Amino acid sequence: METTMNEKLTSQQAIELENKYGAHNYHPLPVVLSRGEGVYVWDAEGKRYYDFLSAYSAVNQGHSHPKIVKALTDQASTLALTSRAFYNDVLGAYEKYVTEYFGYDKVLPMNSGAEAVETALKLTRKWAYEKKGVAENEAKIIVCENNFHGRTISIISFSNDPDARKNFGPYTPGFIKIPYNDINALEEALKDNNVAGFLVEPIRGEAGVFVPDEGYLTEASELCKAAGVLFIADEVQTGIARTGELLAVDHENVKPDVLILGKAISGGVYPVSAVFANDDIMEVIRPGEHGSTFGGNPVAAKVAIAALEVIKDEKLAENAEKLGQLFRSEINKFVDECDLVKLVRGKGLLNAIVINDSEDSSTAWDICIKLKDNGLLAKPTHGNIIRFAPPLVMNEEQLMECVAIIKETISEF
Ligand SMILES: Cc1ncc(COP(=O)(O)O)c(C=O)c1O
Repeated sequence: METTMNEKLTSQQAIELENKYGAHNYHPLPVVLSRGEGVYVWDAEGKRYYDFLSAYSAVNQGHSHPKIVKALTDQASTLALTSRAFYNDVLGAYEKYVTEYFGYDKVLPMNSGAEAVETALKLTRKWAYEKKGVAENEAKIIVCENNFHGRTISIISFSNDPDARKNFGPYTPGFIKIPYNDINALEEALKDNNVAGFLVEPIRGEAGVFVPDEGYLTEASELCKAAGVLFIADEVQTGIARTGELLAVDHENVKPDVLILGKAISGGVYPVSAVFANDDIMEVIRPGEHGSTFGGNPVAAKVAIAALEVIKDEKLAENAEKLGQLFRSEINKFVDECDLVKLVRGKGLLNAIVINDSEDSSTAWDICIKLKDNGLLAKPTHGNIIRFAPPLVMNEEQLMECVAIIKETISEF
């Protein structure tokens, strides 16, 4: 197929190009998107869809938010990248803004979620050796079973997902895996004096939107404090208003020692991630010990300020809380009438339904294909679970239209 950069491709042509020239590391739904605005995206043929994935909760502020896009284009045409070999006149103002916003002394800026998780792991290990007094190379970090924290070698070393791990060994040592939402298992694991940190998703997103029992995060953070262990919250997916509070830990008023953010900190417009901690922890990182060429670049800084302003200006946490309640109550009514949907669960606008069929059946995928035909894009997570996470700029009327599409589509099965 002959193509040029300016040529408008059909969906079929775009799929063929990806299949031929791109590594096959994803299995996308067969839809080719070419435009987005607010809660909507359009395919190459001009058909409009509700986006119920929001790029895995990166596009919380809605597609192409004009304020965020303006920040991007203004800064990109002024100064895009300096590296941290020099200061730039934007980063410091961003660091002040964002640390005040989330209530920490310091931030360490990175780009992707996985990089921020790696940063938090390195920070925690170094803190253990230099502050806690753990013997060199003995530090351990507790993680939860069926976690998802990204795709690097160290992160997949403590994953349970065979697809993420198989033939990628040897694995990084130094991690203890315990069941999620099991406070006794955490208490037991914390008896080891070499434990430096406990890394946890406040809601397990990729695993299928598992919400822990109320009080779990509070108890976990208190146990960590008593044991002299850092409580590390990975809010890459749950953060930035998605669950109806600015952070998912805010539902329990828990303050992590180390906070990891990514995705929606930029409104999905640019790769921005960040690790937050107070001085007594962050000061263990000194020049030359960690970094990234793009981390903290001027475009990222301006984009993130704009994206975080939008969250507050448009009261997106409040909207997520209100619409999330409505969504679950409407879908719960449907669960009572429809045998194919076992349950709906979630917080704010991070929700999932569990399909009443075997884990390895294709029902969830088939439903997502039909949803697509009916104008709504969602994707199965693990097994027979479909995650529903629309942009938080949705209004009630749009949400009710989406509920109707979901009900009608599933009723066809
Ligand atoms: C909780 C959590 N942590 C980390 C990541 C990795 O982020 P990224 O894909 O930007 O590396 C994800 C991505 O889905 C995530 O959900």
